Amino acid sequence: MTKEIYLTGITTTGTPHIGNYVGAIRPCIAASKDKSKQNYYFLADFHALAKAEDPQRIARSSLEISAAWLALGLDTDNAVFYRQSDIPEIPQLTWILTCMTAKGLMNRAHSYKAQVQANVERHSKDPDKGINMALYSYPILMAADILMFKSTKVPVGRDQKQHVEMTRDIAQRFNHHYGDILVIPEAVIGDDTAVLAGLDGRKMSKSYDNTIPLFVDEKRLRKLIMKIKTNSLEPGEPKDINDSTLYDIYKAFAQPDEVAEIEKRYADGIAWGEMKQVLFEYINEHIQPARAEYQRYIDDPAEVERTLIKGAEKAREVSVPYLDQIRDAVGIRKLG
Ligand code: TRP
Repeated sequence: MTKEIYLTGITTTGTPHIGNYVGAIRPCIAASKDKSKQNYYFLADFHALAKAEDPQRIARSSLEISAAWLALGLDTDNAVFYRQSDIPEIPQLTWILTCMTAKGLMNRAHSYKAQVQANVERHSKDPDKGINMALYSYPILMAADILMFKSTKVPVGRDQKQHVEMTRDIAQRFNHHYGDILVIPEAVIGDDTAVLAGLDGRKMSKSYDNTIPLFVDEKRLRKLIMKIKTNSLEPGEPKDINDSTLYDIYKAFAQPDEVAEIEKRYADGIAWGEMKQVLFEYINEHIQPARAEYQRYIDDPAEVERTLIKGAEKAREVSVPYLDQIRDAVGIRKLG
């Protein structure tokens, strides 16, 4: 049987936080060690550019994300770990796919529509105000990422599902036109992976500024955990696990028997301050071994760079010959 090919991208904006860890990093690292699957993980730095971020931030984010994944034990022998911008075949494929993409399909993208809607609600004269072409054609670049490596499975969050569906549409149209060349991928939506709430109880996200970064030092980690929102129940009053960010985060890290123990302590009325201390100690201990490794990578960016270059070389063993085949199919050929 041929191996399933899993591929997923990480946009290089911001620093990895514990929500990223339990939702994406941890499951991907576990999968990277699975020899029955071929895994591609990459830094989507061209996607990060779409938001026209500060150049320093984009560069720093690439280093921090790479350092985090490596420190946490990503198996770069079994998985292919690379940077999107190191694969020149991806932007070429993006253009070829752009020629096969209906404008109407892009009009329907949720993220584009949301921005237009926001402009309309603000009574802006221009519904496209502040929208660049990168936001508009973002799904085509993502389709190229996916199709370039013949991915069969694409693990993404629910918010990205539409993009994978668009990838399928684009690939099907291409194949209809040029023959059976592109592999039609499937989204894998991780319903069992946790979506963590942040300090204020909303989804942990850098856009809400409510995150707990994965590799902050102990003191800062403690401080952040002490800030997590709770209700005003007093020590001794029974507490509900269903409405507690502290509980949710603990559950995402701890073993089932430990979670059961905490459930008992909630029923017995554990004080919030006490629960915060328990959570801090647990996460701190869990992260501790990787923290020094992370710092080692941050202090040695040249080593991270070498790892990424090696990953790009491996990736290009696939993308270079495959793009040749695709170019030939569409008629971009040598003349003799
Ligand atoms: N758009 C994805 C996100 O924001 C990141 C991404 C870029 C991606 N290219 C991809 C994910 C290809 C999966 C496959 O999360």
